[in-house]
Amino acid sequence: MATEQQIKIRRADEQDLAAVLAIEQVSFNTAWTHDFFKHELYNPISNFYVVEKNHQILGYVIFWLIADEMHIANLAIHPQFRQVGLGSKLLNFVLDMGRQKQIKTITLEVNEKNLPARALYEKMQFRVVGRRVKYYENRDDALLLMRYL
Ligand SMILES: CC(C)(COP(=O)(O)OP(=O)(O)OC[C@H]1O[C@@H](n2cnc3c(N)ncnc32)[C@H](O)[C@@H]1OP(=O)(O)O)[C@@H](O)C(=O)NCCC(=O)NCCS
Repeated sequence: MATEQQIKIRRADEQDLAAVLAIEQVSFNTAWTHDFFKHELYNPISNFYVVEKNHQILGYVIFWLIADEMHIANLAIHPQFRQVGLGSKLLNFVLDMGRQKQIKTITLEVNEKNLPARALYEKMQFRVVGRRVKYYENRDDALLLMRYL
């Protein structure tokens, strides 16, 4: 496990996109494309961060800020670095950013069948507030999760 000192969370830039895309493609059945990620780098409501160790990208998060609401649009950790606390670390970073920006609510969608992610969000005090039927391309349902800050 990487030590705390070696792990850094910073804003993403175009040089990170290949590594981000590689993680995305092994993490989701329907992966975001390169253009989608690139758009997020310049989308004014978007915040795109990577977590890295010794210049290796280990994961990323993208969240949108709209007035006093935050929506987490994407989050993933490289498969080889899962279950060592990085997802929680990235999410805690996002919560801290939300507090700094006086965000009141955070929402996100998660595939109903994605038990690791659901466990992570449950642990971080997100609660199910809705269901989006056949939300994903393969017609799986999404659960809408929310937490107050
Ligand atoms: C979901 C994901 C981000 C979790 O990242 P991670 O770095 O492994 O998470 P952490 O190590 O911080 O784990 C935090 C908690 O999540 C839960 N969790 C993580 N992986 C789990 C698994 N495979 N099975 C069950 N619970 C799991 C546990 O509650 C864990 O707490 P614990 O360590 O006290 O048991 C990661 O599995 C991932 O990238 N998945 C693919 C992409 C994805 O699903 N993103 C979310 C889309 S909404």
